[in-house]
Amino acid sequence: SDLRDLYQQVIMDHKKNPRNFREITDANHMAHGNNPLCGDALVVYVKLNGEIIEDVSFQGSGCAISVASASLMTETLKGKTLEEAQTLYDNVHRALTGEEEGGELAGKLEVLGGVKEFPARVKCATLSWHTVHAAVDNDHDISITTE
Ligand code: FES
Ligand code: FES
Repeated sequence: SDLRDLYQQVIMDHKKNPRNFREITDANHMAHGNNPLCGDALVVYVKLNGEIIEDVSFQGSGCAISVASASLMTETLKGKTLEEAQTLYDNVHRALTGEEEGGELAGKLEVLGGVKEFPARVKCATLSWHTVHAAVDNDHDISITTE
């Protein structure tokens, strides 16, 4: 469909030009996320100011899906409150696991290679979301693997 083509363009753009692909030197939260299936690894940096995600970024190497998803994640969460971020994690999780529609963001993520039909690709698309979740929940650098 046209919508699917549009989403595919968004994904390619985020893969080629990842947003917020940088270290945050004064980050107060960070986490390492690993996908043991492929060995891809991302670091997510978060600067929390009270309840607000003032800045969020990532670095590392991954497949097109994990990089585009991480880029979308940073764009989406920047400036959000922790409560808003929690709602977004839940929506992304539900949409990617096929439990229900998750809105426009989830629509973009779904196109990350038709992830729902390929469980291994779901792990690529959720890697950065699990990692940022672990980062904000912990006040030390934490290392997680995709479930
Ligand atoms: Fe599903 Fe993290 S995205 S639990
Ligand atoms: Fe490694 Fe996608 S193949 S995260």
